[in-house]
Amino acid sequence: MIGRLNHVAIAVRDLNAAVATYKNALGAKVSEATAQPEHGVTVVFVELPNTKIEFLEPLGENSPIAKFLERNPDGGIHHVCYEVDDIIAARDQLKSRGARVLGDGNPKIGAHGKPVLFLHPKDFLGTLTELEQV
Ligand code: CO
Repeated sequence: MIGRLNHVAIAVRDLNAAVATYKNALGAKVSEATAQPEHGVTVVFVELPNTKIEFLEPLGENSPIAKFLERNPDGGIHHVCYEVDDIIAARDQLKSRGARVLGDGNPKIGAHGKPVLFLHPKDFLGTLTELEQV
């Protein structure tokens, strides 16, 4: 079912500090910051030859990553995202095997303008898992 690793998302308190670390220490190619108020985050993309890393900084009052950063004050890996060809087929197959889909169970348009779903971390090795239809 799953295809390529689309991205790994790292939650950070300070986007500028995170960018400086990846630029200066790792020589990474990093995008400009993009505010995504509908997702409650500001995002920076780190372009790697084979995938992307995304830095997520909380934006607004009810950011979905605020609690994560309370538990992980230094930041940390927030989720991984795998590509699928057909997100509805993937969802139905996972649900039939007992996996829990977060929210109302319907795909939403994600940070890249494509349909995404999140799977419960307790069903996937303690890791919040995003599926993105590409
Ligand atoms: Co993501």
